[in-house]
Amino acid sequence: MAEIIDGKKIAEDVVATVAATAKDLAAHGVKPGLAVVIVGEDPASQVYVASKSRKAKECGFHSVQHTLAGGTSQADLVALIEQLNVDPAIHGILVQLPLPAHIDSGAIIQTIEPDKDVDGFTFVNVGRLGTGEVDSAFVPCTPAGSMLLIERVRGRDLSGLTAVVVGRSNIVGKPMANLLLAANCTVTIAHSRTKDLPALCRTADILVAAVGRPEMVKGDWVKQGATVIDVGINRIPAPEKGEGKTRLVGDVAFAEAAENAGSITPVPGGVGPMTIAMLMANTLVSACRAAG
Ligand code: GUN
Repeated sequence: MAEIIDGKKIAEDVVATVAATAKDLAAHGVKPGLAVVIVGEDPASQVYVASKSRKAKECGFHSVQHTLAGGTSQADLVALIEQLNVDPAIHGILVQLPLPAHIDSGAIIQTIEPDKDVDGFTFVNVGRLGTGEVDSAFVPCTPAGSMLLIERVRGRDLSGLTAVVVGRSNIVGKPMANLLLAANCTVTIAHSRTKDLPALCRTADILVAAVGRPEMVKGDWVKQGATVIDVGINRIPAPEKGEGKTRLVGDVAFAEAAENAGSITPVPGGVGPMTIAMLMANTLVSACRAAG
């Protein structure tokens, strides 16, 4: 049976280390500051943003949340970001996605000062990661957290391992592949047009699923002893729990996959908690850089 990777516990360890370091930094007069910006009333985004702001406070950060009306103009949003870009009390700026349809999200992201881009979405940070300058980049939080989980179970030397990343999003798939490549893995990115996906997945020592399709990766797609990282969070009907009830599942059929995997992340309690933990870590790093 596979080792179940306890993302909740590992995330708590990361947050505890961040909080302790923030305390040391505060003794030198520097308080890490995180600004989270949300536009509109998407309920899921509101929950995410509230938990990011709360975690920042728990870490002892200066935490500010800007909640803007759904009809906010592009120009007003740009003006807020430009103000945060030059605010010395703010070290990290996060604009929660998705933004309302009338706003050009790509343009908004690029207005964020790269040295405060703790999401790692600006061209500068994407470029740093893509050229292997991992240490100077802000790496997007979900792949950064996934990488930390992989290193916890496989050690820091992943050299020569075969990695398959299923999903090619800018937020997860592509940066995940770049991180694995920087760690000297042999990396393939699979997507909806990939031929014989099960056979490809069976080659993977490290298999990362980030497609947003409930339980798509089946047990017999998993190589014996592989490390399986499930980034998916999908809510599906659970009639066995009663009428109208739902449950969360990942992109991997967990029980089947665990029979072949050497280690595997559960959903919930795997990658999910790592995302916020890495946001705190990125904000701390930004504050340390600003402090010199
Ligand atoms: N929406 C879903 N995930 C993310 C994320 O990691 N960062 C931002 N800014 N928005 C998101």
